[in-house]
Amino acid sequence: MSAERKPGVGTERLIGLDLVRACEAASLNVFRWIGKGDKNAADAAATDAIRGMLNLIDMRGTCTIGEGIKDQAPGIFVGETLGTWVDDSPAVSIALDPIDGTTLTAKGLPGAISVLAAANTKSPDERALAAVPSVYMEKIAVGPQVKEGTGTLRLDAPVEQNLELIALKLGKRVRDLVVCILDRPRHEKLINDVRGTGASIRLIGDGDVAGAIGPCMPDSPVDVYMGIGGSPEAILAAAAIKCLGGEMLARMWPRDDEERKQLLDDGYEEHLERTYTSEDMARGDGIVFVATGITDSALLAGVRVSGHIATTHSIVMRARSRTVRYIRAFHDLTRKIIRVGPDSRDVRL
Ligand code: FBP
Repeated sequence: MSAERKPGVGTERLIGLDLVRACEAASLNVFRWIGKGDKNAADAAATDAIRGMLNLIDMRGTCTIGEGIKDQAPGIFVGETLGTWVDDSPAVSIALDPIDGTTLTAKGLPGAISVLAAANTKSPDERALAAVPSVYMEKIAVGPQVKEGTGTLRLDAPVEQNLELIALKLGKRVRDLVVCILDRPRHEKLINDVRGTGASIRLIGDGDVAGAIGPCMPDSPVDVYMGIGGSPEAILAAAAIKCLGGEMLARMWPRDDEERKQLLDDGYEEHLERTYTSEDMARGDGIVFVATGITDSALLAGVRVSGHIATTHSIVMRARSRTVRYIRAFHDLTRKIIRVGPDSRDVRL
């Protein structure tokens, strides 16, 4: 790791495959929990495996975005160190969600992925992936074509105005646009406003990392992602969107007066009104984003097991080069050993 590097070759390029291994391990370890109705057990299995694999990497990793805020899930928490921390190993800031879609996993429904983003930093204290203190953020995410050119989207603009701008940039009519939104009661007005413009909606039950990335993918049937979802998921999606040349705008969304007061008491008054861009959430070029399918989704197929072979499907992309790779891996379960747990045990799957 300490070997001299060519200019423009970031650490994230060197550890990219190791990061894929971590998400693969999480998805493989969670396979036996798909459809078993126990989202905490599924999350614990994914967390164990992703931590175990990350701790094998020669890096000075720090978890910047972890789990557990929204629903007290068992997790890897902000500030936890990851990797071997051997001398001269690179400093890496890590945001992760061992399962985005725990409920989907527990119910055996499509759309669950294991996901992480890593940022190559100068020192372990540098926070290239933003730590947002609110539980939720209001988000709007679009692909590269909408990012380019004149006119900018605004989170506080009427829905109709944003959709008109998106339609203009995509060369479509507003009524031909497709908007992805999390299916939640809090989105009743948003859903009505979007339908009022004539645009069409794709409601998703969970998993708004993939939902927000969707508009950036070539040939995506979705033009824009809108609505309120988790803050950690916003950072993860922002990392991917940067790698894909799109844009995401996000703003803290306190759930109630109590949370707003807490944020104010903690000194976040200015941040409350701030619109974060994807560059604010995932800074610099040294960003890598990785996801592995758990159950099937439009982004990635889920884990398949046939006899002693398990197949995983992952995506890995880098902001610096904007290269996007899909990795289909075949794992021989008679030989597959993964490292799990805070006590780093090697176990067979
Ligand atoms: P989990 O897998 O952690 O449950 O998150 C799923 C998810 O749908 C996220 O993708 C999304 O950002 C968030 O939950 C929305 O939160 P809520 O379910 O509370 O509306």
